[in-house]
Amino acid sequence: MSADKDLSEMTEIEVASELRQLAIKISEHDRRYYQDDAPTVDDATYDSLRRRNKILEAAFPHLVRADSPNKRVGAAPAAEFGKVQHAVPMLSLGNAFNEEDVHDFFARIRRFLNLDEKEKVGVVAEPKIDGLSISLRYENARFVRGATRGDGQEGENVTENVRTITDIPDMLSGTVPEILEIRGEVYMSHADFATLNENREKSGEALFANPRNAAAGSLRQLDPSITAERPLRFFAYSWGEISESLAETHWDFLEQLKIWGFPVNPEAGQCMNAKDAVAAHARIGDNRARLGYDIDGVVYKVDRLDWQERLGFVSRAPR
Ligand code: IVH
Repeated sequence: MSADKDLSEMTEIEVASELRQLAIKISEHDRRYYQDDAPTVDDATYDSLRRRNKILEAAFPHLVRADSPNKRVGAAPAAEFGKVQHAVPMLSLGNAFNEEDVHDFFARIRRFLNLDEKEKVGVVAEPKIDGLSISLRYENARFVRGATRGDGQEGENVTENVRTITDIPDMLSGTVPEILEIRGEVYMSHADFATLNENREKSGEALFANPRNAAAGSLRQLDPSITAERPLRFFAYSWGEISESLAETHWDFLEQLKIWGFPVNPEAGQCMNAKDAVAAHARIGDNRARLGYDIDGVVYKVDRLDWQERLGFVSRAPR
């Protein structure tokens, strides 16, 4: 991007021309961000365009355009969602495993934990849902805040939109820690995605590229009533900040999630060894076409949470 021209050196014709270009550029970026959920510039670049537009408009108020990005409703900048700092960073996984890596994965865990021959390394295999991860905060069993992953440290506050997702409980059942942050994936089923796009086509709206984009675009609507009309679903699979420990194993944690009222992926399965894990991979692969939503692999989680901790699963990049 070329450096911004000094205002004092600009003619009105130049200012008007730059304002026109800014209006076009900003509305294109808004469309990519809000409707397609596929931004092509980073937040800083986008903000600098908006800032430049504001400066020019302030200096030349009579040149403010009817379609000024500052006046536009329905497509506001990202800053309109409040920011949420994640107390526990929301990590992402690097490469998914393929089948051949599974034996190596078990061997590395055994080595790292310095395990005896007799000791079994149980894992839980779960489909890796191709949606977007969110964090749900509950205080005294009541849902109080929902946040997107963002950059992992800071996400967007999407509480009001989350409240419209029927899969996500507002009040939890049973005994619940005072502070409980549950993480999981928001996604859209193939069937719901197809219907949404059909309706959009009929009304001449831009189509979503895939269910993931549709889910992300739907969750990040500034108007929660739009999110409410979108068929979003949720699976819970992890946690963030908690006021007390939740379970001794990941499997028990999943059971606990169900008691609290969260949907847990029924494909999740316990594996006692590498052979089981390979079989779980094959089973999930076989079921893939029948699931009705996109997955992009299988995630293996060491079942014992004290081992997860020693392996650095929770605090750092997971092993
Ligand atoms: S566990 C270290 N379990 O995959 C974070 N993640 O690249 C591990 N995902 O950002 C989270 N299904 O959005 C976990 N069953 C599952 C998942 C899952 C999908 C996503 C999640 C995360 C990304 C990891």
